[in-house]
Amino acid sequence: MGKILVIHGPNLNLLGQREKDIYGQTTLEEINAALTEVANGHDTVLEILQSNHEGEIVDAIGKVKENQISAILINPAAYTHTSVAIRDAISAVDVPAVEVHLSNIYAREDFRHTSLIAPVCDGQISGFGVDSYILGLRATIQLIKK
Ligand code: DQA
Repeated sequence: MGKILVIHGPNLNLLGQREKDIYGQTTLEEINAALTEVANGHDTVLEILQSNHEGEIVDAIGKVKENQISAILINPAAYTHTSVAIRDAISAVDVPAVEVHLSNIYAREDFRHTSLIAPVCDGQISGFGVDSYILGLRATIQLIKK
């Protein structure tokens, strides 16, 4: 059995009310329920964190070994484009990581075209709405099995 740390970055607690034309109607609770269902079918446990605070996310990543986490699935949200600290935290821990985005960050404003996080992840999935998370989780599970 593997344990995956799922991290939702800032403002993702507002999904369902926030810019619905971009992020859709689905709430974070509904996304977490869908992810948990996929995980249950693959003998995998999820530890889920939503945080609006960079340091809290860095702390959670830094504790993956201590908490026996096998891999990380992360939507860093706005920190995607700004956070050297989250990037360094992922680099520092030796577990697979997958980055996901609901929207296609490459089809949006220029400042969203750069992810500081993607180069230290195994891969990135962007633009498929809630399916980005589902696909990302499936990819993460595959990485653990390797
Ligand atoms: C996002 C894209 C980011 O640019 C943005 O800051 C978010 C959400 C997404 O899932 O599409 O908050 O990560």
